[in-house]
Formats: sequence, structure tokens, C-alpha cells
Amino acid sequence: MRYLTFALGKGRLAKTAMELFEKIGIHCEEMKEPGSRRLIFVNEELKLRFFLSKGPDVPTYVEYGAADIGIVGKDTIMEEGRKLYEVLDLGFGNCDMCVCGPQSARELLNHGQLIRVATKYPNIAKDYFYNKKHQTVEIIKLNGSIELAPIVGLSEVIVDIVETGATLRENGLGVLETICPLSARMVVNQVSMKMESQRISGIIRDIKAVL
Ligand code: PRP
Repeated sequence: MRYLTFALGKGRLAKTAMELFEKIGIHCEEMKEPGSRRLIFVNEELKLRFFLSKGPDVPTYVEYGAADIGIVGKDTIMEEGRKLYEVLDLGFGNCDMCVCGPQSARELLNHGQLIRVATKYPNIAKDYFYNKKHQTVEIIKLNGSIELAPIVGLSEVIVDIVETGATLRENGLGVLETICPLSARMVVNQVSMKMESQRISGIIRDIKAVL
């Protein structure tokens, strides 16, 4: 039997995903060693491998078949636009993709003005403003702490993830428009889905049963 390889986005999602896998008997003790710098973990008995990568790289590993299965946020799936199967909503990591900014930006949005939009998600922002709203905007790619942009005058609004809304509130910003809901998803390589269909559909079925 060949190894089935899982790619997990580093951080919050990976931890919750492993807790979910444990419920269906998929576990990896090696992964729990604190302070480890190892990148790949093996469960010899179940013939499974797990690795952690940056979230946006998970769809890449899965498209190319370096991982059979990936656990990643819907935001990343949308942004990366890779060829893969999205098979399951895992029901955690729930949040929204939103257009946010100060209340004063609402008018600019409503009147279709040429505004600047800062975001970690340029493709999602482009799709929303160009294809859904038919509004021309200037998109500025940032890599984190996006809420800073409207505060220091880099952009009028941002496109970003809102979970509790605390970051926005503490910085005098609010949600102006909601683009779509997000959550953690399981994605599968298109070839693996055929070649390992029994094992993979077994995992999907087991997870569905505990969700
Ligand atoms: C995310 C997101 C928001 C924040 C939203 O950032 O980009 O900044 O969390 O959460 P909240 O609504 O509960 O406040 P993250 O902490 O992942 O870091 P980043 O800003 O560096 O991307």
C-alpha cells in the first residue's frame, strides 16, 4: 500500500484538523512533539504522511499530486484557483471575506468611485469588484495586518477575513460589504481521487459521520 499524503496549512486549521482526524482514528503522534522543526510526519501503521506548509502552498502541493489530500481555508482555495476537488466543508474556521473600512468609505463604494483596495487576496478582490460589482478599483497587494492600510492612507478600503470583528473594532473600522462565508475545506488531487478512491472516500465518509 502506498502512503497517502496530507498537506495541512500551518497554524490554527492544522491543529483543529488533526483533532478531527483523531476522531476517525487517523492520528500522528510524531506531530505532537513540542518545539520540533520537522516538516514531515509519518504514521507507518496506517501508511499516512502529514506535512505542514504555508496555507497558500497547500493547493499547489495538492494540484501537483505531492499531497493527495489538503486541509485549507476556502479563502486560499478561491485565491489560488488550482485544479483540485473540493470535497468537504469541515465546519470549523468559520469566518467571512469582507470589504472593510471606515464608515466614510461607504459613500465611495456606493458611488462606484475609483478607490484603492488593499488585500492579501488580489484575485478574490478583483473577481468581486470587476466581475460581480462591475466597479473599477486599484488593487494593492499586502501580506498581513491589512487593517493598517486605510488607517495610514494607503487605501480607502480593504478586502480581508473577519472572524470575531475585534481587529476591525479596535482600529475604528467596520464591515462595509460581505463577499462570502469561509471555512476549512478538504481538497483532493484529481488523480488521487481515482487511484485511491476507496481509501479517500472512506476518509470522507468517516469525517462526514463525525461532523
Ligand atoms: C486575520 C485577518 C484579520 C483578523 C480577523 O489576520 O486578516 O486581520 O485575522 O480576525 P478577527 O475578526 O477575529 O479580529 P491574522 O491574525 O491571520 O494575521 P494577518 O493580519 O497578519 O494576516
